[in-house]
Amino acid sequence: MGRQRLFIMYCLVLIVVALNIIEAATAATIFEVGGSLGWTVPPNTSYYATWASSKTFAVGDTLEFKWNSTHNVLEVTTKAEYDGCTKSNGVLKETSPTVINVTAGTHYFICSIGTHCVNGQKLAVTSVGSANTPTTPPGSSALPTSSVVLPAILSTTAISFLVIFVI
Ligand SMILES: *[C@@H]1O[C@H](CO)[C@@H](O)[C@H](O)[C@H]1NC(C)=O
Ligand SMILES: *[C@@H]1O[C@H](CO)[C@@H](O)[C@H](O)[C@H]1NC(C)=O
Ligand SMILES: *[C@@H]1O[C@H](CO)[C@@H](O)[C@H](O)[C@H]1NC(C)=O
Repeated sequence: MGRQRLFIMYCLVLIVVALNIIEAATAATIFEVGGSLGWTVPPNTSYYATWASSKTFAVGDTLEFKWNSTHNVLEVTTKAEYDGCTKSNGVLKETSPTVINVTAGTHYFICSIGTHCVNGQKLAVTSVGSANTPTTPPGSSALPTSSVVLPAILSTTAISFLVIFVI
């Protein structure tokens, strides 16, 4: 294989890698809460914690609560309210589907109907930072991932070019 063809193939690989990194950094995920079960009284009280523990929630993702029978989504304000299934505070959504934008920090959702929360219909979601919307305060030195990765790939390409054609 000639050097020129090798170089072109190398560039194509780098471009694909770069596009994948940018895609991964910017794509928002829609989470169907509870998976195929949806938002209901679960078979056991650890069901939604287990569901959430297998996911990574980023700022900009969305949570979709879907239910058929009598349920709702009350976003309570503290962990104590979440732990105690306290129904007196928070933002209540009563129509399915309820779509919630994931923002920074931990958010607590319960169903405020009857004993549903006590029986496990509750969800806590903690978000991680996203490349698109850095949670670091202005003036800090942290940069979004894509603005670091892209120049790195471009300079690697330039150096490879020199190595292949000059040496
Ligand atoms: C609601 O009912 C429909 C039709 O029976 C079913 O396909 C769907 O999975 C149910 N959704 C939830 C969240 O229970
Ligand atoms: C809770 O229920 C789910 C779904 O049926 C099951 O996969 C999981 O093992 C159960 N967890 C416990 C602690 O029983
Ligand atoms: C969620 O984000 C979308 C898209 O940015 C926006 O249109 C919508 O109003 C937001 N919803 C809430 C409840 O903030």
